[in-house]
Amino acid sequence: MAKLKTGVFGCRRGGNYVSLMASRPDDIEVVALCDREIEKLGAKDTVPDARCFTDFDEFLTWGRENGMQAVFLANYFHQHAPFAIKCMEAGMDVVSECTSASTLRECVELVECVERTGRKYMIAENYPFSTRNLEMKRIVDSGALGSVLYAQGEYNHGGTGDSVRNDAQGEFHWRAWLPKTYYNTHALGPLMYMTDSMPLYVSARAAHSDYLYAYREYRHAYDGAAYMFCEMDNGMVAVCTGCTAAASDYSRYRIVGDDAGIEGGGHTEGVRMFWHTYTKPANEEERIKHITPDLASMGEKAARAAGSGHGGGDWWIVDNMLEYFVNGVEPFFNVYRGVAMSAVAILGWKSCLNHGENFRIPNFRSLKERDLVRDDDLTPFPGDNGEPHTMPSSVPFSDRPYKKGCPDKINR
Ligand SMILES: NC(=O)c1ccc[n+]([C@@H]2O[C@H](COP(=O)([O-])OP(=O)(O)OC[C@H]3O[C@@H](n4cnc5c(N)ncnc54)[C@H](O)[C@@H]3O)[C@@H](O)[C@H]2O)c1
Repeated sequence: MAKLKTGVFGCRRGGNYVSLMASRPDDIEVVALCDREIEKLGAKDTVPDARCFTDFDEFLTWGRENGMQAVFLANYFHQHAPFAIKCMEAGMDVVSECTSASTLRECVELVECVERTGRKYMIAENYPFSTRNLEMKRIVDSGALGSVLYAQGEYNHGGTGDSVRNDAQGEFHWRAWLPKTYYNTHALGPLMYMTDSMPLYVSARAAHSDYLYAYREYRHAYDGAAYMFCEMDNGMVAVCTGCTAAASDYSRYRIVGDDAGIEGGGHTEGVRMFWHTYTKPANEEERIKHITPDLASMGEKAARAAGSGHGGGDWWIVDNMLEYFVNGVEPFFNVYRGVAMSAVAILGWKSCLNHGENFRIPNFRSLKERDLVRDDDLTPFPGDNGEPHTMPSSVPFSDRPYKKGCPDKINR
């Protein structure tokens, strides 16, 4: 493999990937970093030879003039698409961490940019590639479950009072306005990957959180959880959360088929497989099996991945990136799957605001279907300077007349 010259935009979470890339010096070279706060962040010390920028346009211009081939985007959650487009227009391939777009219009613009420029685009959705989730996929692929009936994915990321206050850096920071369906790739992504399926329809509901409401001075999104119900193109039903920020940190996946089911949670737990009484008519002990993924049988790459962040998932993102950008092997999470998940998040939120109304997920490969949503730029996120958002970030209290009041303060 030739060394891939890469720039990283957004160096908080991006800093984790800078370290991973630096650990593969024969394959990849981080040539430039860009972050307004670069002086405060450790990433620059990890790759002391990289050029540092605080301005994106200067970073891109320098990259164009100095052979930068790819950009890893880890900037604000809701601003990936416009920057991805700028990078692809400048002739660079893009990894987006891990959400593609925050409006339906951006979904269309992103797909059309990939098709127009022929650049390579993937998302850094890492949860499907944890060692345990890879084992779950292996079991689904083996056919041992029979036809899959339903799949459940939960992404739970708890927060203390301090983190709820401090993680939103400023009044208009995305974390303060993030509706509960939007961060859905860690819940839905693994289900799509394990079952090789695409969402066709979504209907969703959000639940109010007294805990988050007590921090409304800092956050305008105070629903605690949202649940999305998706009809998938393989006939199964997928049920998934977005990011359930007030709950535990235990994320969990479950796939149930005609013959058997599997489930697993956290990053290090193994897989629990359970057969139905009619497929394995033995006693309950024999119908339930705990499976520890056997790294030795999963190949050399899985062994290298195992120690990295998110159960090994982070390592696979860098590997998928290299395989795609250098060797042309298209990863599962291409632009079409990326925007499909974004559309589930956006339309799932519209559904929450409309008591579970059902929405069809556009097929973004079809120009006709893109035309139906290309002007839809409804967003729950305000602009950087407080330009107003066009959708609420929480289900309004007027839609919850049964909710009579909330405690003013909750300590955690
Ligand atoms: N896959 C995972 O496991 C995982 C984990 C954490 C975060 N993420 C994703 O990574 C992304 C970044 O997350 P984060 O927690 O680091 O977010 P953050 O908002 O804390 O940090 C974003 C960084 O980007 C910089 N930035 C944004 N716009 C800029 C601009 N125009 N010019 C210069 N600098 C700019 C900011 O200064 C900031 O340092 C998000 O999309 C998040 O969803 C994924």
